[in-house]
Amino acid sequence: MKTVTIKDKEFDLFLTEEVIEKAIDNVAARLNKDLAGKDPLFICVLNGSFMYASELMKRVSIPCEVSFVKMSSYKGTSSTGKIKEIYGLEEDIKGRTVVIVEDIVDTGYTMSLMLEQLVCDEPEEILVTTLLLKPDALKHDIKLDYVALEIPSDFIVGFGLDYDGYGRNLPDIYKIKNS
Ligand code: IMP
Ligand code: MG
Repeated sequence: MKTVTIKDKEFDLFLTEEVIEKAIDNVAARLNKDLAGKDPLFICVLNGSFMYASELMKRVSIPCEVSFVKMSSYKGTSSTGKIKEIYGLEEDIKGRTVVIVEDIVDTGYTMSLMLEQLVCDEPEEILVTTLLLKPDALKHDIKLDYVALEIPSDFIVGFGLDYDGYGRNLPDIYKIKNS
């Protein structure tokens, strides 16, 4: 079994580049079919989605715009604790078909906040694609339109996803050892 060590943790090979790219082929084919003639705006969420966004957008052949945002993350003073806000969105999304491109939906908290904020700008519709979903960890009632791969709730790295800032450049996805 191929393993990698990142900082203090060991990870086992979990999903190869080939498996990941096949799943992306499927999502792209569905998007090309469903969004033809809709002039969509793809909003990719940095940093994690950079590799998924790149591989996905190479396969999307319909006319579209591609943009990138980040979610700020800081400790707020509200009772919920962590507040996240979208920043970097320059396009006017009013009346547009918007597709959010995410790396992973875990509890769904981040995505639920994104959707809440984007709805305020009155897009025609918001669709969500995520490379990975941990269905057993999902705690928020969100609509996920295009999920490339469903995985167990174990911590993973690679293909854009990091452990403490490292591992994003790995072309395959690795799962934390002994979990
Ligand atoms: P959520 O808000 O709980 O859905 O978490 C989403 C964010 O947590 C993702 O955008 C990732 O940045 C991070 N995340 C969740 N699971 C993992 C993982 O297994 N590896 C690396 N990052 C993860
Ligand atoms: Mg992310």
